[in-house]
Amino acid sequence: MKFDIIQKTPLYTALSEVGKNIFLPEGIFYWAGRAKAEAKLIGTLGSAYGFEKDFINGGSSDWLPCYLKDITAYSKLSVEDIIPYKSIGGYSQTREIWKEWIIKKSLYQEKEEIQLSRLIKYITMPVITGGVTNGIFQASVLFLNPKEFIIVPNKRWGNYDNIIKKFIGAKMKSFEFFKQKKMNLEGLNDAINEVAKVQEKIIILLNFPNNPTGYVPKKEEANRLVDMLRNAQQIHNKPIIVLVDDAYEPYIYKDDALNRSIFYDLHQLDENVIPVKLDGITKELLIYGGRIGFITIGLKPSWINNDEELKKLKEEINNKLEGFIRATISNCNSFYQVLVHKLFQEKTMDKIIESRQPVNNLLKERYEKINSELLKIKNPNISIDPNSGGFFVFVNLNPAKIKATEFANHLLNKYKVGIIPVENLDEKINGLRIAYCSIDLSEIPELVKRINLALNDF
Ligand SMILES: Cc1ncc(COP(=O)(O)O)c(C=O)c1O
Repeated sequence: MKFDIIQKTPLYTALSEVGKNIFLPEGIFYWAGRAKAEAKLIGTLGSAYGFEKDFINGGSSDWLPCYLKDITAYSKLSVEDIIPYKSIGGYSQTREIWKEWIIKKSLYQEKEEIQLSRLIKYITMPVITGGVTNGIFQASVLFLNPKEFIIVPNKRWGNYDNIIKKFIGAKMKSFEFFKQKKMNLEGLNDAINEVAKVQEKIIILLNFPNNPTGYVPKKEEANRLVDMLRNAQQIHNKPIIVLVDDAYEPYIYKDDALNRSIFYDLHQLDENVIPVKLDGITKELLIYGGRIGFITIGLKPSWINNDEELKKLKEEINNKLEGFIRATISNCNSFYQVLVHKLFQEKTMDKIIESRQPVNNLLKERYEKINSELLKIKNPNISIDPNSGGFFVFVNLNPAKIKATEFANHLLNKYKVGIIPVENLDEKINGLRIAYCSIDLSEIPELVKRINLALNDF
């Protein structure tokens, strides 16, 4: 495949060496495609097939992938659905459905015709990854060379550090996430200015609702964030790639919080602020072990001259992403790709949202309870980060008085309460992540009471 169109876009400028080099070689697929169309005897497929009766006692005369009979006891899905490999980029029906789901999640109404048509036309077909983690990994490798900077908040999911620093060997430009209980846009802007001095591209990783704080920007804060990124892009005239980790996307508990991914507003910008949406079924559809995630890239109308070029651009990007998937995980779990397809086929999206609602309600109650209980603690050595969604709340501890790890140890030993301490004084973090997603409402007051008792011991 030629990469004529992508090479002319700012997206290409932002790719890492791996991102520039990777593609899906035609080899096997070229010959398999031709064999399907032209051959009488086909010996191209690298999976065992046979007449069912030849490998299963009492089997049919159907030509099927060879399988072990016992596995059929565990699923209603057909052998043809779950045994064969799915395509490298993912099962096409599931990819298409997920694109529609992304459109649905935008919440654009029909009257927002311009936004809606831009969204429909200018996003790539989602490719399927091994969960959101794998999406983050792939996107990070595609854009980051070793030693290059990615901008991240100081309060972030710890696994980013594994991927970015340890695996890729890239560097994190961390900014303090909050200033006076609001997202620290000035800090982010400063980080952009610094990175722009040494790099031809700016890569940022954002995650709302955030792990570990549960932070979601208020709508007006989100507008300011989008404006700031737009201005920064205009000033530096370098592509700004925003990796949007949407793992907890549907869990928003306050009316004034941004009620959709920041991906959408960034995508609507004409400037080269290029959002990459990383979402998945794991938390969103509550199938953690299903390990199905998606990468979707927001494209800009100014990059192409006509629909033909747009089509080619999407093919080129898809080829690169598939090349990457092929080289790393080959393709994703068939069973869960089919399961997602069936789920959406049999239920409307509204029904799926409706059936998730009890979980949202449960989490919202816990969110309200834990925040109100924590507020009752009158102790100058703690503060709670702003939070309005997700699975967690974060309690900062005064590092001069209490070290988070020491506190967590004491809390566990004396009060038998387990929470996650996050202590990284270089990045000004010293606090406790409480996963209220996994604590029953009735136990929250006791949990907070014990935290309070433990605080009084310091
Ligand atoms: C912020 C964030 N992103 C991504 C993930 C991983 O999601 P997945 O299970 O889909 O890999 C997690 C899981 O804890 C997370 O907290």
